[in-house]
Amino acid sequence: MPVPTPVLYPPFNIVRLSHVEYRVTDLPKSRAFYVDTLGLQVTEEDKNEIYLRAMEERGHHCVVLRQAERADVGVLGFKLFDEPDLDKAAQFFTDKSLPIEWVERPHMGRTLRTRDPFGIPLEFYVKMDRLALIHQQYKLYNGVKPLRIDHFNMFSSNVDDSVAFYNEIGFRTTEYTEDSESGRVWAAWMHRKGGVHDVAFTNGTGPRLHHTAFWVPTPLNIIDLLDLMSTTGWVHNIERGPGRHGISNAFFLYIRDPDGHRIEIYCSDYQTVDPDLEPIRWDLKDPQRQTLWGAPAPRSWFEEGSVFEGTELTDSSMKAQPIIAP
Ligand SMILES: [Fe+2]
Repeated sequence: MPVPTPVLYPPFNIVRLSHVEYRVTDLPKSRAFYVDTLGLQVTEEDKNEIYLRAMEERGHHCVVLRQAERADVGVLGFKLFDEPDLDKAAQFFTDKSLPIEWVERPHMGRTLRTRDPFGIPLEFYVKMDRLALIHQQYKLYNGVKPLRIDHFNMFSSNVDDSVAFYNEIGFRTTEYTEDSESGRVWAAWMHRKGGVHDVAFTNGTGPRLHHTAFWVPTPLNIIDLLDLMSTTGWVHNIERGPGRHGISNAFFLYIRDPDGHRIEIYCSDYQTVDPDLEPIRWDLKDPQRQTLWGAPAPRSWFEEGSVFEGTELTDSSMKAQPIIAP
C-alpha cells in the first residue's frame, strides 16, 4: 500500500479545517457571489474585507474575502484542540526549520502562522469568537443553504510527499488514486474531523488551492443553486457537475467565483472515525473515481487553481495522465 500508516498520536492535535482567506479584485462582485448567490452569512464587513460563516457554524468566520490587486489565497486556517497544542505546533514547525510567527487576527485568540514544507501558508488557533446560533433561523437560509466548510483540495507537485507530511501531523488517508504504472499516488483524501477529508491533494503544478468545499443539506439544494445561477448571470461560473463522486460518494458541483477561485458544493459523504479504517484505492484510469456516473472532468479542472500568496510553484514530474473530457 503506497499510503503511510496513520499517526494516531500526532505531535499536536488538529480538530478540523476552519477558514480560508481569499484575496479578490472586486469585493462587491465577490459579495454578490458568496452572499447573494451561495447564501453565506456576513458576520462583519467594511470596504476592504468581508467575514462570512455558514449556517451551522458558531465561530466568527469560515471565509475572509479581502480586496486586493491580485486574486490569490492568503492562508488556510485550522482549529487545534487546546492551548498547549499551539505551543507543540510551534515547536514542531521550528524543528522542521519552517517559519513561525505569532500573529494578531481579528476575532481569534493566539494564532500561529507558518508554512508547510511546500510553501502553503497555514495558521493554527484554538479560540475564535462565538456568535449567536443561526442554524434554526430558517428565514436566513438563502442560496444553496451552506451549512459548514468541509474541506480544502490542493494541487501538489508531489502528492507522495504531501501525504507523508500531512500524515505526520495526524491527517489520516481515507481514499487515494494510484498510477498503477509508476506506483505513485496521484491524489489523496485525508481527514481529522471524521468525514472523508479536511484536506486533499491532487497531482499538478503546486502548491495551489484547487478548491474549498461547503457542505449543504441535500442534492436538491445543488439543483436549486444551478437554477438560480443560470438565471441570475452566473451561468458561465458553473464548471463541473452536478454529479456523484466515486471517491467520497458525495454529491457535488464545482463553480468558480468572480476571480476564478473554485468552490465545491458538497453533501453526503460518510463517517470515517474508526482509527483502523482502511483507505480505499482507486486506479487513475478508472473514470468512476471522479464521477460515479462515468463523466470525465473538464480540462480546466485539472489545470486551473488559485495560487497562494508568496509561494513559488513547482511543476509535477508525473508523466501519467487522467482521462479528460473532450
Ligand atoms: Fe472536494
